[in-house]
Amino acid sequence: MHRFVKNAGMKAVTLTLALSAAAVAQMPVSHSTVAPTLAQTPPMGWNSWNHFAGKVTQQDVMDAADAMVKSGMRDAGYVYVNIDDTWEGERDAQGVLHTNSKFPDMKALGEYIHARGLKFGIYSSPGATTCAKYAASLGHEQQDADLYASWGVDYLKYDLCSFGTNMREAQAAHPEDLEFANRMMRQSYVTMRAALDKTGRPIVLSLCQYGWDNVWAWGAAVGGNLWRTTGDIRDSYDRMAELGFGQAGLSKYAGPGHWNDPDMLEVGNGKMNADEYRTHMSLWALLAAPLIAGNDLSKMTDETKGILMNRAVIAIDQDSLGKEGDRVRAEGPQEVWSRPLAGGGLAVGLFNRGGWNQPMSVSLKELGVKKAREIVNVWTGEKVVAKDGSVTAVVPKHGVVLLRITE
Ligand code: GAL
Repeated sequence: MHRFVKNAGMKAVTLTLALSAAAVAQMPVSHSTVAPTLAQTPPMGWNSWNHFAGKVTQQDVMDAADAMVKSGMRDAGYVYVNIDDTWEGERDAQGVLHTNSKFPDMKALGEYIHARGLKFGIYSSPGATTCAKYAASLGHEQQDADLYASWGVDYLKYDLCSFGTNMREAQAAHPEDLEFANRMMRQSYVTMRAALDKTGRPIVLSLCQYGWDNVWAWGAAVGGNLWRTTGDIRDSYDRMAELGFGQAGLSKYAGPGHWNDPDMLEVGNGKMNADEYRTHMSLWALLAAPLIAGNDLSKMTDETKGILMNRAVIAIDQDSLGKEGDRVRAEGPQEVWSRPLAGGGLAVGLFNRGGWNQPMSVSLKELGVKKAREIVNVWTGEKVVAKDGSVTAVVPKHGVVLLRITE
């Protein structure tokens, strides 16, 4: 069985389609030898959308690059400086895409970013237009890939948007072939992956199609290094929690070179409190999620810096085993998640989704730990002692106690 999920305005229409093994076999796949060598740990960096959205300018991106270095974020592992939608201008008579007036010199911007030891990311869509209705890559894939490479681009976020309309129209014209639109979508990624590879530049490909058609099951096969599993995040605890805790069950699809992406970080954007942002960061680390900051890096409080740059939390996210964590248990507002780590041991999150502080307990047995040599409370750095084989802690409302257990 195969699910094809379409968003029709606010209503999600889900068609459950029977799919034969033969039909799956015909699905377009990438033969990229480049893609599997990239993003061996979840990408870390910054993206302009969550804070600047359509207002972003070249100067904002330069300021972000400077702040990434000055704040210590680069040294903590954040390297990609990614422009999201609204940089695009018009195509000329040869079909070459130009920037709009907000981005006067992309090549210079790429050099500016690289000169700071950082990497450069850009955004497009497989459709004719992006979500914000700017020009996108349909029919110009190689031309655009070549252009990006000439600017020194290292990362492409490829956002489905208007291509969804192309898919719906094509599907309506082929009612007998239930997988027509899905094949089209996959082909669009295979095409862009091949175009990127042909440039000779190793470019990370980030698929953004909000989790349609169970992308986690085939995102790597079409050459994606990461794929959004969800709709857009917002700077609210409820939305962040809905997306993050909604990842339960997806861990088996992620690994070095190919990651589930529950969307970018909202840490520091101001609408969640510190406990909630620590939940966001801890959950994303347990999920081996890309850590793409989405705040104004040039104006960070010490609290924001402390959350985004906590080395012990980042070490969990970037753990070299590359195994995504998953939910161990959910009981009412309490959730326990764990993630296996390289060298044995695991990271464990005790999450309190309720609106009041409450004690939570987890037994080592439940976590599959035979003998804990050391247990550390990751956010406080304090050692924790298990009593009668269990760890108990008071977890603040909407908060987390993140543990690192060494076996
Ligand atoms: C959405 C995407 C956002 C952002 C936006 C830009 O589709 O999920 O992350 O890229 O488009 O228009």
